[in-house]
Amino acid sequence: MPAPVVLDPRTTGAVVFDAYGTLFDVHAAVMERAAAIGPAARALSDLWRAKQLEYSWVLSLAGRYVPFWTLTERALDHALARLPDVDPGIRAALLAAYRELSAFADAGPCLDRLRAGGLKTAILSNGDPAMLADAVSGAGLAGRLDAVISVEEAGIFKTAPEAYRLVEARLGIAPERVVFVSSNRWDVAGAAAFGLDPVWINRAGLPDEYPDLPPVAVVASLEALRVNP
Ligand code: LAC
Repeated sequence: MPAPVVLDPRTTGAVVFDAYGTLFDVHAAVMERAAAIGPAARALSDLWRAKQLEYSWVLSLAGRYVPFWTLTERALDHALARLPDVDPGIRAALLAAYRELSAFADAGPCLDRLRAGGLKTAILSNGDPAMLADAVSGAGLAGRLDAVISVEEAGIFKTAPEAYRLVEARLGIAPERVVFVSSNRWDVAGAAAFGLDPVWINRAGLPDEYPDLPPVAVVASLEALRVNP
C-alpha cells in the first residue's frame, strides 16, 4: 500500500478534482457495453477519449472555444468512423451513458472523508456546466462538493492558466492552499505550471511524463488521500 497523502487543514484550504478520469470512469460508457460492441471496444474508448482531449488542446491553442459536450460528440463520431467493425447505431446509447458516467468507487468516500476533515472539495473540469451537472447528480456526488467549476467561464480548456485561475476566483482560496487531484498526467503538469500542488492519481500505473512539471505525490487511488486529524 503506497504511503497516504496526509493533508493538513492548517495549510490546505481545498482539494480540487479533475472530473473525467479522476472522479468519473470515462471508459465505463463503452466498456459496460463491450460484449455488444465487440473486440474493438477498448480501441473505440481509447480513440474517443484521445480525440476529445486533442480537440480541446487544438482549439485552445487556436484561441477558439467549443463546449466540451460538443467535442465529446465529435470525438465519438470520429472514432466510430475509424472503426467500421463497430455498429454506429450504438452512438445514442454511448452518449447517454457518458452523460451520467459511473463514479469510481473511491470517489464518494474520498469527498466525504476530506469534508469531514474540514477541507472544501470542488471540481475543476473541461466539462461544460450542463454536462457536469448531469454527471455529478448521476453519480450521486451532489451535496458532496462545495463547488463545481467549468472552464467554460474562462473560455479556454486546461492546461491554460486561465482555467486553473478559476479556482481562486470561485473559492476565494489562494493557489498555494489548493491541492489539485487528477488522473491525467497532462492536467497535473498544467496545474503544477500554474502553481497548484498537484497529486497524480496514477490509476493505470503509467510511466511518468513531463519531468519539469512534477506532482507533489503519486498514488494509485483516491483512498490514499487522508486528512491530518
Ligand atoms: C476534465 C477532463 C479533461 O477536465 O478530464 O474533467
